[in-house]
Amino acid sequence: MENLGILYFSSTGNSLYIAKKIQEKLGGKILFIPEYDGNGGEFGKIIIVTPIYSYGMPLPVFDLLPRLNGSIEITVIQNYGGMVGGADYPRSASFT
Ligand SMILES: Cc1cc2nc3c(=O)[nH]c(=O)nc-3n(C[C@H](O)[C@H](O)[C@H](O)COP(=O)(O)O)c2cc1C
Repeated sequence: MENLGILYFSSTGNSLYIAKKIQEKLGGKILFIPEYDGNGGEFGKIIIVTPIYSYGMPLPVFDLLPRLNGSIEITVIQNYGGMVGGADYPRSASFT
């Protein structure tokens, strides 16, 4: 996939593992969200890979979403231990 950014957050490695699997299939550049301060404008498409922590998003991911350029296609992949809570709210949220 052309010009794909794979932005991930991970503490125990599961989301990084998923990000690497995506890169193997689709190519793209993997970036660690706490070290990324851009708005995603350099990418044509972004895949965010994040765990669910305490029924929500880790803070660095939560902070990133409204910062991203709203014209870019963004896919959010959440992995978790079986308790989603309200952490899938970005599905219906609008980021502009
Ligand atoms: C601090 C913490 C909080 C978590 N909270 C939840 C939760 O609320 N619901 C859930 O289903 N899993 C929860 N988990 C499990 C993680 O979502 C799951 O292990 C995930 O794969 C971790 O991803 P990572 O290895 O990329 O950090 C939690 C894990 C940690 C470490």
